[in-house]
Parts: sequence; structure tokens; C-alpha cells
Amino acid sequence: MLNELLEKRALPPLLVSADGTPTTAETWEKRRRELLSTLEEYEYGRMPRSVGPTTWSEKHRERTAGGVAVSTVYDITFPTPDGESFTFPVTLSVPDGASAENPVPAFVYISFGFPWYYPMEEILDQNVAVAEFVMNSVAFDGDDKWGTLLSAHLFPDGKRAPDATGKIGMWAFAASRVLDLLLSLDCVDKTRVGVVGHSRLGKTALWAGANDERFTHVFSNDSGCSGAAITRGKVGETFPRIASVFPYWFSEKMQEISTDVETSERTPFDQHFLLAAAAPRKLYVASATEDEWADPVSEYLACRAASPAWELLGEPGFLAPDRLPEGGDCFADGKVGYHLRIGTHFLSRKDWNRYIEFIKK
Ligand code: GCU
Repeated sequence: MLNELLEKRALPPLLVSADGTPTTAETWEKRRRELLSTLEEYEYGRMPRSVGPTTWSEKHRERTAGGVAVSTVYDITFPTPDGESFTFPVTLSVPDGASAENPVPAFVYISFGFPWYYPMEEILDQNVAVAEFVMNSVAFDGDDKWGTLLSAHLFPDGKRAPDATGKIGMWAFAASRVLDLLLSLDCVDKTRVGVVGHSRLGKTALWAGANDERFTHVFSNDSGCSGAAITRGKVGETFPRIASVFPYWFSEKMQEISTDVETSERTPFDQHFLLAAAAPRKLYVASATEDEWADPVSEYLACRAASPAWELLGEPGFLAPDRLPEGGDCFADGKVGYHLRIGTHFLSRKDWNRYIEFIKK
């Protein structure tokens, strides 16, 4: 059944190189680079490049979550291409008992700053650490004419080249700078370091995880259009709509392929490229039954369409039955996990609990 549904979507082939040769396990890394470069070219823009090492300084430390954890606020600083540097805050919360002898899994949580998406006590109680940073402290989520925060350093003259990064790429780049910090800490289990985000920040988590292979786990919560959902045949939000309402999330060039739905469905890529770029690491996609704007069916089909990348490498990809998901379903036995939560567009404790289970597996 799923193969038939996917055939109707007529997706561009995942495992055939631009020069027409079929991808093998040996040529996978080359193909992965191609996938990333196609997504950069048409959708998110070129990822910012590191021009020097990340540094950090501790600003504040306190016991949190009723005394079961310690939260530390760091200022993270990295050099920028204009010869200056950029600094943003991150709050790292580590459960008591985490140490070099007893390292814990950790999430880089790209956040809106809304407390209702972050049931901190419940998360920390499960013995995982979370490093939260807020999107608006890195790149303003709106049309700032590229004049504020990180944008001002990347585009000092206020002009953005057509293939340059949008805000999603800037947030994703910042997630990697937070990862620089996490990887320096003895109390973090380096084999279990995930990136997680909801909605626009779920798109961002996917883009961060696709680019930075040091993330061992990638979590997309209700990311929908230009996130986990296949674009061809998608219901709810479309490329023309997202590109016109949120042009600053993407490259300038995305406008060219988003003039109308037909054009956006004739591109040489679809979102299964984004999911597959996480292979052979672990990927998890979550949807919610009432989130039609994101389109749970298209998110689910994308997992299926991306799975051959894992299979090519001899890994179990997406292990799910040959049917569409029902509310409450969770398929997380392979390296690609998925669940369909009953409810609306939200990052809930149920989502977090599944992510924690998956990262601990
Ligand atoms: C809008 C947008 C979505 C996005 C969402 C969010 O609804 O259309 O693409 O995911 O905002 O980030 O909350």
C-alpha cells in the first residue's frame, strides 16, 4: 500500500547520483553531499561556515527542577566572516548524578522560548541533559532586513546573495555551536547527542542534523512543509505559501521554485533528501493527528521514502507496517522512528517521552 501511495507522489530518486549512477554503500557519502548541496541550492541556502573555534563562558549557575538538576547559563561565542564575533546564551540543564563515570544522553533543544513546550522537570527526571537556546537570540524570526543579530555579521551591507542562508540555516548553525560545547563536557554521553525542535524549529533540527554528523540523533516535531513532509502531493501548507509568508527562513532562490504548486513539484529534490541525509544515524519524526497544516501522512511517507538510505548501508531503516498510521501509533524499532500523537500541533510531554526512550535505546 505505501509503495503505491509513494509512486503517486513521483519523487525524485534518492539513490541515483546527479550523473545517473546508482548509489552504493561505497558512494553513499558522496551522494549525501549531493543531497545536501541540492537542498542548500534550492531551499535553505548555503550553510554558514565556521571561521574559527567556538568558545564559551559561564554566566550563572543554579539548582533547578526542585533540586534534581543544575542549570548553567553560558554565553557561546564564535567568530564571524566579517572579522568580528557573535555571542548568544544557552541554558544547559544537567541532572544530578551525571558525571564522567555516569555520562547522560543530551539534547540540543532549539526553542521558541515557550515554557509549555519544555516540561523540564519531567525530562531531567529521566536522566538526560538539555541545552536550550532561543531562536530569537540568534536570528530574529521576522523580516529584520538582515540588520540584526547574526544576520548583521553574515550580511554586513544588508544584502543577501540569492544562494545565501536563510534564518533556518542560521539557527541550525547555532545548534552546532551548542554541540561544540556539549562535546567538551565529560558528563555528556557522546554516543547519544540529539538535536530537537518543533515546527519551524523542527525543520531547523532536521537541517542541523543533516549537516552536522556529530549529532547522533535527529528529532523533528511536527515540522511539516519544508521539514519532514514530502512536498509533492502535500496537503495543508505548500511551498508557494511558505515561501511568500516566511521568505526569510529560506534562500532567495527558493522563491524561483515556489511561484506555484506545479513548479514546486518539478524540482530535482523532495524532503526525503533531507531525512536521508541523517543516515546512518538515528532519526525520529513525530506528527499529530490534528496537524493537517503539517500533513502527517506526508511526514510518514517521507520516512518510508528515506528508509532505503539506511537499508543501502545495511541498517534497519523505517520498520513500519504497510499501512497509514493511526493516532497513537509509534514505530521506533529501526533507525528511523515515527509516532502519530493524538492531538494538535504542539511539542508535548508525550513527544519528549518518546524522544527520550529513543535516545536511550
Ligand atoms: C506556521 C508555518 C509552519 C511552521 C509553523 C510554526 O504555521 O506555516 O510552516 O511550521 O508556523 O513554526 O509554528
